[in-house]
Amino acid sequence: MEFPLYSLYLCIYKGYVMKKLIYTLAVNKEKREVDDAGIHEVTKQSWLHYCEKYDIDFYVIDKPQFDVGTPHWFRYFIFDLKPDYDRYLYIDSDIMVHWDSPDIFDYYNELEKLYVVRDNSGLSWVWESINAYKQLFEGIDLDWEKYFNSGVQLFDKSHKDLYQSFKQFYVDNSESIFAFQKQVRKGFDQTPFNYFNTYNNTDIHFMSERFNLVHMARKEILQNYYFIDMGWFWHFNGIPRDFQDGFIKQLWEKIKKNYVKTPDIDFLIESIGEDKDINSTTTSNKFKRDVWDFFKDFKNQICVEFGTHKGQTTKILSYRFKKVYTINIDEDSLTTAKKLNADVDNIEYVPFNLYSDDILDIKGASVFMIDAGHKYKHVVSDIDRCLSMITGDKCYIIFDDYGFNTQTDVKKAVDEYISSNKIKIVKEIGHQKGHDFGDMHLLDSEGLICEVVK
Ligand SMILES: C[S@@+](CC[C@H](N)C(=O)[O-])C[C@H]1O[C@@H](n2cnc3c(N)ncnc32)[C@H](O)[C@@H]1O
Repeated sequence: MEFPLYSLYLCIYKGYVMKKLIYTLAVNKEKREVDDAGIHEVTKQSWLHYCEKYDIDFYVIDKPQFDVGTPHWFRYFIFDLKPDYDRYLYIDSDIMVHWDSPDIFDYYNELEKLYVVRDNSGLSWVWESINAYKQLFEGIDLDWEKYFNSGVQLFDKSHKDLYQSFKQFYVDNSESIFAFQKQVRKGFDQTPFNYFNTYNNTDIHFMSERFNLVHMARKEILQNYYFIDMGWFWHFNGIPRDFQDGFIKQLWEKIKKNYVKTPDIDFLIESIGEDKDINSTTTSNKFKRDVWDFFKDFKNQICVEFGTHKGQTTKILSYRFKKVYTINIDEDSLTTAKKLNADVDNIEYVPFNLYSDDILDIKGASVFMIDAGHKYKHVVSDIDRCLSMITGDKCYIIFDDYGFNTQTDVKKAVDEYISSNKIKIVKEIGHQKGHDFGDMHLLDSEGLICEVVK
């Protein structure tokens, strides 16, 4: 037999990517006031996030696999249902995963070991269950110190015989097991699976409790939500069903924002949907990417955009700054922008005529984007307004439409401020000299990022 670690490294060496599956059970076979599927609909959201993050497939056993007994046993039917994976993680449907949990498949990466978590939170129950099942597993000594919870099981395809034979043991003895369980009321698959592994001398590795934080009420870590920072896999077992249902749903409302995938620039550009060759009024995708890259560490700063249009560049800015004020004379434009940016809550839409004498009362801004009126007097007025509003040590002004043959006023005004050393160029952004957008031609760069000279 190959040494397991060696076989794992061999797979990596050959460039083979392991196929990984996380699966759970959500079969409503029993008549319960609170159904498993309802809880599962919530916990599933956390697992879908986890699976997407670590490139793992997700599967739910939602149909009965056998007529007799309870659904608990169906987890051992996995090799009939999904035989083609290299590694498997079973999780009970009342387990939720922390949004920042590490990839358990990486964390415990040796093959041919069954990874589980000890269950010693209710030792009298464990002791009674072990003793009750002794009559079904005569002659096998199950050590209570090695008793594990069956709600999280990490295994691989080398365990196929183990799982298939345990399933078969259940199928062959289902009537008597079911009758026995109804009588003793000491669990379902868990204690029998513990006995079975003791009998088979399975190579078991005990994982950190963080990967199956069981009986959290008994451990007094449900209150104050201590479990959130204490564990990766939160197992909501050992609590009354109606409380469990309400608690999980309430918790989800509190933490679900953490499971939203943070959009990257590709995602944002795709959701904006128009490059400058389709809509000449907005900045180009290249311009947006350059702004995204330059302002990557500005999450604590405030930006003001002069000229909203549809709120397309506003969207990019909103993911880079703590707060964005976008200014426009036209309220319809602001309404359109609000719709495009309904996913964020850090944009303030300001109806305002930039070329009036009114004061734009915004404090604390360190970055401005000038893209409203394109006449010489407008750009001069915008720059002067910015210079009167800036705060902080380093302030920047972003200019759009700097190098276009159709907007030469912008360049004229900006160049004057550069010549008089009021601002200095730190980066040319967007498309560069020579690029065409239909009739519009670039004589210089599409945009500039300038630093205000103090
Ligand atoms: C080129 S568009 C802005 C494009 C936008 N920054 C983008 O990247 O998608 C110019 C915007 O400035 C607005 N605007 C024009 N004159 C204005 C004024 N006096 N005060 C405020 N906004 C004005 C226009 O309504 C228009 O929405």
